[in-house]
Amino acid sequence: MKAVILVGGEGTRLRPLTYSTVKAMVPVLNKPFIEYVVRYLSNHSIGEIILALGYKPDSITDYFGGASQLDAKLVYSVESIPLGTAGAVKNAGQYVNDTFFVINGDIFTDIDLTDMLDFHKNKGAKVTIALTPVDDPTQFGVVETNNQQRVTRFVEKPSWEQVTSNLINAGVYILEGEILERIPQGKHFMFERDVFPQLLAEGEPVFGYATDTYWIDMGTPEKYLQLNRDLLCGKSAQVAFQAGDIRVDKQSSVHPRAELTGPILMDRDCTISKGVQLKGPVVIGSGCNIHDGAIIESSILWRKVGVGEHAVLKDCIVASDNYIENNACIEGTAINALAKRQSQSTQGQV
Ligand code: GDD
Ligand code: MG
Repeated sequence: MKAVILVGGEGTRLRPLTYSTVKAMVPVLNKPFIEYVVRYLSNHSIGEIILALGYKPDSITDYFGGASQLDAKLVYSVESIPLGTAGAVKNAGQYVNDTFFVINGDIFTDIDLTDMLDFHKNKGAKVTIALTPVDDPTQFGVVETNNQQRVTRFVEKPSWEQVTSNLINAGVYILEGEILERIPQGKHFMFERDVFPQLLAEGEPVFGYATDTYWIDMGTPEKYLQLNRDLLCGKSAQVAFQAGDIRVDKQSSVHPRAELTGPILMDRDCTISKGVQLKGPVVIGSGCNIHDGAIIESSILWRKVGVGEHAVLKDCIVASDNYIENNACIEGTAINALAKRQSQSTQGQV
């Protein structure tokens, strides 16, 4: 079985973090996000994974390199201009046939792909769309189904007046190869706005596989922070971490008078000084220095972040190579001040 991962978007909603790192490479528990997606597919016996890349593909291809440590074979399909979600799959058309999966490259989920495939076959579907319940469907594609799980309506990014269900498109599809024939080559084309509504209009068998297993789209700073917290609190079967765990790399040093409350994950070469308080969930990337008396609560620090004396960070994300001044007090913000020179915008609300 093969799967296409859509990784071509610019990640604008994740700014300012994506000024310096593409969305797929943003670290989650100190590993690039895309690695979780690849491993998830590979754990469901998907033997060949096609990464449909567009915006800044090099950091992703460089990271995986030959990828000999993965069970699945990786293939790269790069777009010279953004082709949209369906256009990207058409562009990778030479690598897929028969029945295959497509997954948005910014979702983390425990959806049982094997069970979804059984459902797809039993229903005789041409397309199966995984569905998940959310509180605010206006950010997503709302999917209505009948009592045979057949999709009857698809509304992308509806207004609240158009919301008739809390079940949304989870960004995981199973497609029959013939669907590719409906997608024009080299043109911008979307599953959500073009392919699915067209199939429904023609009465083709499109089914919705609803599940309430763990699912999140990490495409905003708020959701990205939530994903890290959820994983540290043991909400996904894919990460073995419990709410009280404190895991500090052996090559980091923690002053005996620092106070750590789990869950905490700390990478190598960090220094945690006297009187520092880390109140989990907290993730600290490699090479960070936290100076005397600083307090970090429910936050994510990427690599080589410095936090000055008695600074307080709460619900923050700090991108790599940033320094938080002594006594600063910051809450609910994504910080990437180094991006300022390139872009003017430095902060986004979490
Ligand atoms: N290769 C490629 N080319 N990938 C793309 C392109 C493109 O032109 N445009 C978007 N993508 C990728 C993004 O990188 C992302 O991984 C995925 O397609 C979805 O794009 P988003 O921009 O994150 O879409 P969304 O979150 O607003 O909405 C989509 O996902 C929701 C679930 O998270 C839609 O599919 C909604 O219907 C769905 O509910
Ligand atoms: Mg998204």
